[in-house]
Amino acid sequence: MTIHTRFTELFKIKHPLLSAPMGGVAGGKLAATVSNAGALGFVGGGYGDIAWLERELGITAREARQPWGVGLITWKATREMVDLCLRFKPHAFFLSFGDPEPYVDQIKSQGVKVVCQVQDLAGARKALAAGAEVLVAQGSEAGGHGATRGTLPLVAAVVDLAGDTPVLAAGGIADGRGLAAALILGAAGAVMGTRFYASDEAQADRQAKERIIQTSADDTVRTRVFDIARGYDWPEGYTGRAIRNRFTERWHGREDELMAVANEERAKFQRAAAAGDYDTKMIFAGEGLDLIRDIQPAVRIVSGIVRDAEQSLRAGTALLR
Ligand SMILES: Cc1cc2nc3c(=O)[nH]c(=O)nc-3n(C[C@H](O)[C@H](O)[C@H](O)COP(=O)(O)O)c2cc1C
Repeated sequence: MTIHTRFTELFKIKHPLLSAPMGGVAGGKLAATVSNAGALGFVGGGYGDIAWLERELGITAREARQPWGVGLITWKATREMVDLCLRFKPHAFFLSFGDPEPYVDQIKSQGVKVVCQVQDLAGARKALAAGAEVLVAQGSEAGGHGATRGTLPLVAAVVDLAGDTPVLAAGGIADGRGLAAALILGAAGAVMGTRFYASDEAQADRQAKERIIQTSADDTVRTRVFDIARGYDWPEGYTGRAIRNRFTERWHGREDELMAVANEERAKFQRAAAAGDYDTKMIFAGEGLDLIRDIQPAVRIVSGIVRDAEQSLRAGTALLR
């Protein structure tokens, strides 16, 4: 049995599941593996590191036998970065955090589908008007950057708004139950980031993955302190959900003070990050953390999620009398 949705139809793929374009964590290997397993895998181009993108997109383009995609952080993107990505012939382009309009025609002109991640209804309306072919409704439960709306009501509201455009749910979804719930809300599938962080193929060291499987979502926080420390000037309204550590304990809530000493702290932060010191360096992760207990090959993650989602959907219909 397979779960058939407008999303699986659009890309002619087997499963209504997309692995998120996690900047620097979702490399070419993860994207290709997820796609070859029947879901839609994405390379996380993040802020647009050219050398990284060329290497990782080369891997996906060589290894993927099924549709795959690439994502960029929209407010940091440029037409040149978009062109570079398009040269590798992805099937989908994921734009989030900012106005997608300047890039939609450029992407569509190459026959590549535009997926826009939105955090509220205003963003959804804008993305639809710009020509998005898939919307991702991302709730604040998500790992990494996002905003304030909760996944459950946001997804339903975006589904109501989107008409024939397929909507995927993102934020705190990490297993088959979550995927089934998203489908029941009317979504055409789900986006998962944190679950794929704890995969063999994710580009992160063992220590970070171990923290993912050992930490409860109770110990995450939405914060700007890592952006300030890294010198990223995120637009108003966005924070990043990360595992709490010594750095957040010290600076979260004292952002103005951190900004005042940003140069000094940045150098210290960079040294700690280079040394893999996760008491300082961030691990972005979502509220699905409690549901992630092991590091697995991505192929097994995909098949387990789909199997459990089918079971949940069957269990749901069994409630009807
Ligand atoms: C480590 C990490 C890095 C992320 N980086 C990006 C990114 O560069 N661009 C982006 O659009 N979304 C990024 N996200 C957010 C995802 O697109 C997605 O919304 C999120 O992972 C869904 O929530 P979940 O982590 O609870 O599954 C990131 C998420 C994580 C966990």
